[in-house]
Amino acid sequence: MKHLLSLEKLPRADFETILRDATVFKKERRAHSAQPLKGQTWAMMFSKSSTRTRVSFEVGIRELGGHALFLNANDIQLGRGEPIQDTARVIGRMAHGAIIRTFAQSDVETFAAFSKIPTINALTDDEHPCQVLTDIFTFEEMRGPIAGKIITFIGDGACNMPVSWIFAAAKLGFELRIAAPKAFQPAAEILKRAGGKIIVTDDLHTAASGADMLYTDVWVSMGKEAESAERIKLLTGYQINANLLKLAKPNALVMHCLPAYRGKEIDAETFEAHADTIFTEAENRLHTQKAILNWAVS
Ligand code: CP
Ligand code: NVA
Repeated sequence: MKHLLSLEKLPRADFETILRDATVFKKERRAHSAQPLKGQTWAMMFSKSSTRTRVSFEVGIRELGGHALFLNANDIQLGRGEPIQDTARVIGRMAHGAIIRTFAQSDVETFAAFSKIPTINALTDDEHPCQVLTDIFTFEEMRGPIAGKIITFIGDGACNMPVSWIFAAAKLGFELRIAAPKAFQPAAEILKRAGGKIIVTDDLHTAASGADMLYTDVWVSMGKEAESAERIKLLTGYQINANLLKLAKPNALVMHCLPAYRGKEIDAETFEAHADTIFTEAENRLHTQKAILNWAVS
């Protein structure tokens, strides 16, 4: 039984399988005859908003021959307090797989343990594994192997996105730099668990110099809205813009997992100048989700 709950737990060989298959699914879109989810129903339980993850999984499941059952967590009894263990035991007896977007990482882990069906983390407060797999796929599609390259994350360095990047860096052998104010730097314990070459600094210049890619994410993640004012105050300046990009390699990529808040983590001009990369990255969610689903059932 395969689950994609975190990049920390994903073996390197499985990274490679997913990244390789995403290339095939992209090349063969609408032409591939394999239907690895034929006859299957996958439950998608979401407790947070989503555009890219929801649409890419729904379309991906359909194109692989399966049926997606979208369940807003507030509409099912989970939202009224039914325990995750019980929800998992019900859905596990009916559906063939589950895709969950929620707050606590322990909830996706509990669901996987109790449901006994392949379970995919579609974002928790701790990790966003599907997004980082797509980002690496997109980087390699545009620039070749990521091993040995320098990836710089700018912004909230303690949220789900940088944490998934941290675990990927150690496994795939690239250097990761995180530029974030002290209050938003990743926990030392996570860095220790991951290993690899990871530089954490509050100095944007050190982080961006010679980078192969600048990457950012929102300053206010879902669930952190009450901290908005404080976050904007502390994170102001941790922005991808033309001045910062000048420090990176001349052909450096700019990526953003989206949604983007122009004038905050990225300025409007830089966003538009790199829109082709950013929306290819968004499109690649679909191809990578298919590779993840195929991996999960094979
Ligand atoms: N990047 C990402 O996961 O987008 P959504 O929140 O729209 O799914
Ligand atoms: N860190 C962001 C990622 C959105 C895709 C959040 O959790 O809201």
